[in-house]
Amino acid sequence: MSLSPRIIALLLACLISALTLAFLTFVEGVTSSMLFVVGISSFVISFFLVLYAIELLVFREVNKMYKTIHQLKIRDFSISRKSIIKNSNPFKKLNDEIFVYVAKKQKEIDELKRLEQFRREFLADVSHELKTPIFAAQGFIHTLIDGAVDDEHVRDKFLSKAAKSLDGLDALVKDLVALSQLETGEVKMSFERVNFSQLIQEIFEQLETIAKAKNTSLSLKTSQPGPAWVKADVQRIMQVMTNLIENAVKYGNDNGKVIVHLEEDKKHIIVSVRDNGPGIPPEHLSRIFERFYRVEKSRSKERGGTGLGLAIVKHILNAHKSKITVMSKVDKGTTFRFKLEKMEV
Ligand SMILES: Nc1ncnc2c1ncn2[C@@H]1O[C@H](COP(=O)(O)OP(=O)(O)OP(=O)(O)O)[C@@H](O)[C@H]1O
Ligand SMILES: [Mg+2]
Repeated sequence: MSLSPRIIALLLACLISALTLAFLTFVEGVTSSMLFVVGISSFVISFFLVLYAIELLVFREVNKMYKTIHQLKIRDFSISRKSIIKNSNPFKKLNDEIFVYVAKKQKEIDELKRLEQFRREFLADVSHELKTPIFAAQGFIHTLIDGAVDDEHVRDKFLSKAAKSLDGLDALVKDLVALSQLETGEVKMSFERVNFSQLIQEIFEQLETIAKAKNTSLSLKTSQPGPAWVKADVQRIMQVMTNLIENAVKYGNDNGKVIVHLEEDKKHIIVSVRDNGPGIPPEHLSRIFERFYRVEKSRSKERGGTGLGLAIVKHILNAHKSKITVMSKVDKGTTFRFKLEKMEV
């Protein structure tokens, strides 16, 4: 027999009226008609009271559970653990615990879905990026095999084009390996004391040819004369600065200006790389640190970029406990900024 609220109310009402009658029989002068009236009325009252209490409790809590399910359906996960700990009602506690558990699982599922989507997009991007230089090199080589090799001029031209495509492929694979190693934390930074102003001068010298080709000036401005000592992994930080300065030249205007600014606060050297190029439209700004993201796909590709540079920059700076920010105004220019920890002698 299942204990429905009515049966529970009936049993309790019987018990209560029986107890009341039992007590009344000990009282002197109580007549049987009085006992009858008291018995009936106590039975009826307690039956309805108990039924009302049970139904109210059950209905209220079940209603709350429905509300919880509805909240979960519309993905409203706003409930704090504190409210659960404070609450002493076991129904409410149970309800809230279920809510928190499902919300946690839902968040995990959402995160997994996001990662899965990210993985799919990444795979599509990688295959697309790999396909381009492979197809190009393949095309040149097959044309040579099919007879173009006999013409000396065509042979040299096609061979150098095939070599260029394969160089691009090599750069892409190296960047991908570097990125995945940085992401998995495989690469250990070897921090040392680095003279940052000297490092910038070295990069300026390396990039002199590409800057000259665009008639772009490279200059360093420091708030204080002399070396600026920072704690950094010299190879990695060089990679960061090379990409930022190279981007500023590559994506800047002809006859442009690139200025590296070093400022100081108590504990940090604040580095900024500024150009007066065409800038980056606001809708792209938050995405340029994503892998393979290019503002103008065709133009950036034409300039030999893989679109991995800024993703690598972000990871290297994260490993230096720093964060890169970007500010850009269309037709005015772009500024990238980050901090590095000072390291005095
Ligand atoms: N200073 C800048 N001015 C304008 N656009 C920029 C600037 N720096 C970066 N960008 C945009 O951001 C995109 C991403 O830059 P990132 O350095 O990640 O890739 P890349 O330069 O195309 O390739 P890689 O650095 O791997 O050679 C570029 O393709 C370019 O569109
Ligand atoms: Mg770049």
